Amino acid sequence: MQLFLDTADAAVLRELAATGLVDGVTTNPSLIMKSGRPMLEVIAEICGIVEGPVSAEVAAVDARAMIAEGERLAAVAPNVVVKVPLTPEGLAATGELARLGIAVNVTLCFSAAQALLAAKAGAAYVSPFIGRLDDLGEDGMGLIAEIRAIYDNYDFDTEILAASVRSADHVRRAAIIGADCATLPPAIFRELFKHPLTEKGLQRFLADWASTGQSIL
Ligand code: E4P
Repeated sequence: MQLFLDTADAAVLRELAATGLVDGVTTNPSLIMKSGRPMLEVIAEICGIVEGPVSAEVAAVDARAMIAEGERLAAVAPNVVVKVPLTPEGLAATGELARLGIAVNVTLCFSAAQALLAAKAGAAYVSPFIGRLDDLGEDGMGLIAEIRAIYDNYDFDTEILAASVRSADHVRRAAIIGADCATLPPAIFRELFKHPLTEKGLQRFLADWASTGQSIL
């Protein structure tokens, strides 16, 4: 499973990319707003930090303008993936951008039927929003399972990018189902490393080692 960071904060990305475990990045207009920086500048910086896919979202709502914005964003760096919303106009733009050789991440996916359309349109990635569905009392993880079954039934290449992730348990369950990628807020990425028994066990080993008076080097 590829792990992406859901952030437009270059400093945080730089810190977490040092783990060697960040495969890509996703951004959205809200994250760009939070960064307080010009979008093209921050996307260019992020693309210099990670080699993997970096999603940059269009702001237009009609297909022709989305295509123009998508071409502009894709020109920033070869690893830019253009993110478009799951609307009829967005899917028309997806088809055209894919024909131009530009990878597209179709975002704001909340149903399996929508994910089917995204795959048929030629999306490289589809982003089902788990957390926002759970917030409404719906079953975000069930959506991931449905999309996995549909894509496997028809051998679609579109990758399932679990988004709106709220917990380490979301990551665990999406991985069991077979989501291709998950995009994580930095706090959730940090959570993945933690287990109380790891910390407790390490403290014991360090204390016992110190009592031997030995050194390895
Ligand atoms: C990423 O592609 C999505 O935009 C993001 O995961 C949405 O997360 P949120 O529901 O926490 O805003």
